[in-house]
Amino acid sequence: MKDKNVLVTGGAGFIGSHVVRLFVEKYPNYHIFNLDALTYAGNLESLKVIENKANYTFIKGDITDEVFINQLFQDYKFDSIIHLAAESHVDRSIEDPLVFVKTNVIGTMVLLNAFKNTWKDNFENKLFYHISTDEVYGTLGETGLFTEITSYDPNSPYSASKASSDHFVRAYGETYGMPYVITNCSNNYGQNQFPEKLIPLFINNIINNKPLPVYDDGNYTRDWLYVKDHAVAIDLVFHEGKKHETYNIGGFNEWKNIDLVTLLCQQMDQKLERVKGTSGKLITYVKDRPGHDLRYAIDASKINKELGWKPSVTFEEGLNKTIDWYLSNEAWLQSVTSGDYQSYYQKQYRN
Ligand code: NAD
Ligand code: TYD
Repeated sequence: MKDKNVLVTGGAGFIGSHVVRLFVEKYPNYHIFNLDALTYAGNLESLKVIENKANYTFIKGDITDEVFINQLFQDYKFDSIIHLAAESHVDRSIEDPLVFVKTNVIGTMVLLNAFKNTWKDNFENKLFYHISTDEVYGTLGETGLFTEITSYDPNSPYSASKASSDHFVRAYGETYGMPYVITNCSNNYGQNQFPEKLIPLFINNIINNKPLPVYDDGNYTRDWLYVKDHAVAIDLVFHEGKKHETYNIGGFNEWKNIDLVTLLCQQMDQKLERVKGTSGKLITYVKDRPGHDLRYAIDASKINKELGWKPSVTFEEGLNKTIDWYLSNEAWLQSVTSGDYQSYYQKQYRN
């Protein structure tokens, strides 16, 4: 009998795969169940190193399937959930908002109900950990930071769906006394990220000598965090976070897109032994994303003061490790960019 049955949703995705690997390896006394629908963003290749471990089980399934999820809870009586499964790309949410409502809102509701109904008579030592994003806070101007008490003000269908799911988690905490914790994190980067997000997309395009589509003038700002540092923060909050609280997680690492892309191009030229300036010539300014948030930046002082967490790598180091991983995992990159990826790409960047 294991100390805990932990359900991780979305564990075949980018951040989820880092969380699953960390928990399976660090906690042999827990059993980690990875529930994932394996959408275009989920890839079991990312979990090869732990797939045969005795304390790990993969379950293919959809969090919106109420009958299936209820049965799963009856069968396994999960003590805790780390809920990462989501549709996660803003540009896709602009094209097809409904699928974001379905997965991010309805899917979260199905899990909340199953969790509540399983434990409502005794929530002791139980936890619903909901992984969210800083994008729920909307946009900042040139100054200021998002704190845990910043009002929600989402601008994209993605962030609106995440905000909605956050509200439901909180409401279940208030209404049913369900123990929860929520973390709102800034932009992640690192190995295993699907190449539709800025950094892996541009690495892939540089490798293939394709244009780097910078939206508008590139003067948008994001706060970047290395994914392994996010996984460490999740571990800490899971074990030591105060119930019914929110923690913001960020990299203390703001970059304007154009400055980030310039640094990436310089590092790629070095790695690929190309003449200085070669990758930079691929930068192409394209039509802006509708509703594009100007700036995100996190005040992560609460998690720093209360739980002692801070990022472990500088951006230059993290980016360096990320590029190295993509360059030595071209087979992974090619397998995820075949098929549906091509039609998505044509549609997204046709103008
Ligand atoms: P991702 O898109 O890489 O992975 C999502 C995973 O969820 C995939 O494996 C996919 O197959 C799975 N999934 C999707 N729909 C599902 C469904 N209906 N049922 C079961 N599984 C389903 O996402 P990510 O970047 O790893 O993000 C994980 C979580 O972290 C999301 O909740 C996201 O909102 C949040 N987040 C992401 C970032 C970031 O920068 N990537 C930052 C802050 C918060
Ligand atoms: P992205 O990685 O999609 O994350 P998010 O929108 O969730 O912050 O985008 C990061 C920034 O890069 C954002 O300001 C949009 C910009 N961007 C581009 O300029 N071109 C692109 O092709 C993509 C995907 C993003």
